[in-house]
Amino acid sequence: MLQTVLITLHNISRWLVLVFGILAAARAFSGWRGKKAWTPADDRAGMLFTSLLDLQLLIGVVLYFTSPFMLPILQNFGAAMGNSSQRFFAVEHVFAMILAIVVAHIGRSLSKKAAGDVARHKRAAIGFTVALVLILAAIPWSRPLLQFFGLFTL
Ligand code: HEM
Repeated sequence: MLQTVLITLHNISRWLVLVFGILAAARAFSGWRGKKAWTPADDRAGMLFTSLLDLQLLIGVVLYFTSPFMLPILQNFGAAMGNSSQRFFAVEHVFAMILAIVVAHIGRSLSKKAAGDVARHKRAAIGFTVALVLILAAIPWSRPLLQFFGLFTL
């Protein structure tokens, strides 16, 4: 039951991460290229994106150590390295996503420290875009695009 809830949240939250990531990056790019003032809405967009990433990290870590899917992988990590789909979840997914989360946070933090609004937008735009590219590359697109508490899977 808990696993169903966690995997559902991890699945759905992926779409929220993408929507708010694209929104935050688009606002930052538009502010940078259009030399716009930095607004509280820009700050909120970045905060939502990084908060959703933190939530994904939290759920992901719990899934990593408790999911029945991960159990055989963790019990024989060496053998999992020889199986590309198991290695993806054991190492590649986690490593790329953690890197993306760190890059998004660094982008937001450097943006806050920048002198001037255009520099703020520029740093946020670069950090959020690099994070988004990593996220898009590390999402397991072969898995369900949507699942809802075991009631339906797409
Ligand atoms: C932006 C961050 C992340 C995104 C967008 C993301 C996205 C996804 C998606 C879409 C799935 C497939 C869900 C399904 O089968 O319905 C998945 C599975 C999984 N993710 Fe992530 N993930 C992220 C971060 C993480 C992190 C940081 C970890 C671990 C530390 C993690 C661990 C896992 C595990 C173990 C599974 C397989 C779970 C299972 O099938 O029981 N994820 N992730």
